[in-house]
Order: sequence, then C-alpha cells, then structure tokens
Amino acid sequence: MRKSLIIQLVVLGLVVGAISAVVALYIPWLPDLASEEGGGIDDLYLFASIISLVVISVVAAVSIYAVLKFRARPDDDEDGKPIHGHTGLEIAWTAIPTALVTAIAIYSAVVLVNNEDLKPDHRVIEVKAVQFAWSFTYPEAEVTTGELHVPVGEQIEFQMEAEDVIHSFWVPEWRLKQDLVPGTSQHVIVTPDQPGAFTLICTELCGLGHSTMRALVVVQSRAQFDSWLAAAKEAAGGGAAFDAKAAFTESCGTCHTLAGAGTTGQVGPDLDTVLAGVSADEILESITDPDAAVSEGYQPGVMPKNLGDVFSQQQLDALVQYLVGATSG
Ligand code: CUA
Repeated sequence: MRKSLIIQLVVLGLVVGAISAVVALYIPWLPDLASEEGGGIDDLYLFASIISLVVISVVAAVSIYAVLKFRARPDDDEDGKPIHGHTGLEIAWTAIPTALVTAIAIYSAVVLVNNEDLKPDHRVIEVKAVQFAWSFTYPEAEVTTGELHVPVGEQIEFQMEAEDVIHSFWVPEWRLKQDLVPGTSQHVIVTPDQPGAFTLICTELCGLGHSTMRALVVVQSRAQFDSWLAAAKEAAGGGAAFDAKAAFTESCGTCHTLAGAGTTGQVGPDLDTVLAGVSADEILESITDPDAAVSEGYQPGVMPKNLGDVFSQQQLDALVQYLVGATSG
C-alpha cells in the first residue's frame, strides 16, 4: 500500500514536471539574446526555472493525488483528521524553501554585481521618459534624439529619469529592465553585442498612450555610430538637410493619419481632416504644447510633450511648413 502510494506520487510528479518543463523551456519566451549582461540573467532564469519545476512537480503530485483519493463521497461529509505538531514535517517545510530562496538570492546578487561592474571607458547616454515618448541625450555631442543609436560592443551606462509618472525601460533582447520613478535617477548598464534594430518598450502602464511608448534602437558599428552622431549634431544645428516628411513618419505616423506621408495611425486625430485651414502658429503650438488645444473626441495627456526638446527650432519650423503644405488643398 505504502509502496504503491509512492509510485503513484512519483508518476504524477514526473508527468506534471515533464509538461511544465516543455512549457517553460521549449517555448522561446524571450527573443534571442543581444547583450553581454543578458547571459547571466538567462542563466539565473534557468536556475530559478529548474527549482520552480521541481517544486511544482511535488506540489501538483500531492494535490492531484489528494483530490482523487480523498475526495468527499456522497454519503461522507466529515472533515479529515487534523494533523498538529509534526516536528519533522515543520522543519522540512521551513528548511527546504529557505535553502532554495537563499540560493536564488545569492545567485542573483552575483549576477547583479557582475552586471553593475562599470568600466572606466564606458559611454554615458541620458534617457528621459515622458508620457508617451523617450528621448536620448548624447552629452559629448550635446545632441538629443528620439531614436536610440549605440555602438556595438561598448559598455553603455544609461542615466535615466522620468518626468511625470512611472515608466519602465526595457529592450527585450538586452534582458535588463529598469523602472523609472519621477524625482529619482536610475541607471542601467548594457553592452550590446549584436548589431541590428531593436525596440525599446515602456513596460509600466503609464496612461492612455502607454502601448505607443516605444523607440527604435539601432545597434551599429562604431564607424556607423560616429557618422550618425555627427549627422544628428549637424541636423540639430540646422546645418544639414532635415527631411520633415521622414521625421513626421517616424515620430508622428504611429498615431496620426496623413495621406501625404502615407501614415495611418489611429491614436490621435486624422491630420488630413483637423489641420485643413489651420495656421502655422497653431500647428506649432499643437506640436510643442499638445494639451493647449485638443481636438473634439480626443483626450489631453496622450500626445508626448517632449517634441519641443527632441526637435530643434529649425526642425520644428520645417515640420510645420511640411504639415501646412501637406494639408492645404
Ligand atoms: Cu511609459 Cu508605459
């Protein structure tokens, strides 16, 4: 009897463990890794997953067995006999979880200390989060952009602040995630080791436009990065040609429809309709101070308030001229 009980529990545990292991380990829950720091985080996840799989197997085996074996029969409404003061059991259920949680804590601390090891030649990029946009400042070039470009293989310290509510910085391929609380500054250290285009996602529900709070991340060679930064600096100074249509598509098209730019965003007003006959000054105000006048049927606080920082005065003028031209007749 006792032997058959143990065999049944082991079989149940193995079945539950096998199903959970397939779900946990064979489904690619995260995209391919693209940072040096992410390796330790993936290993830590694997370690915690294996512990969790063992725990869930034991708990599920006992639960399923108990539900099947000790379920109430039609003619039986008595409670089972309570068990009290089983010292061996109490020591076991205290000691085992304590050991497991302590192991995870120590492993986490080791990974955290490794990932926070800031090298003397690291690069600093300042990140600002506002409802509902990201901006990036490159202090050495004194340039602020709405796209994040980083050179591959260099350690970068992102120094981050939120201006209004809590946002959260996450590039899934880099694994590291950091909440940004207004009034505090946070940092995250990343060494991107795969070139390519990625997406920075806000992972804290921060208001109506939360799901649109994304930014393009471009990881490129040092030479490509340097020439991009030089071009961004020149464009900010008004020196280089600024492509207002491309800037509109990139910064505004996700939310706004504009036939001339071929964008079909539905979050904000359809600009083909609402901008007809509107003056250049009013368009400029709608870009830099979006809540000053909000179209009927739309809510204030949705459109990012940082566009006046992301674009220089010349770029704003070019954008306004483009919109005047694109929506008049
Ligand atoms: Cu910012 Cu969600």
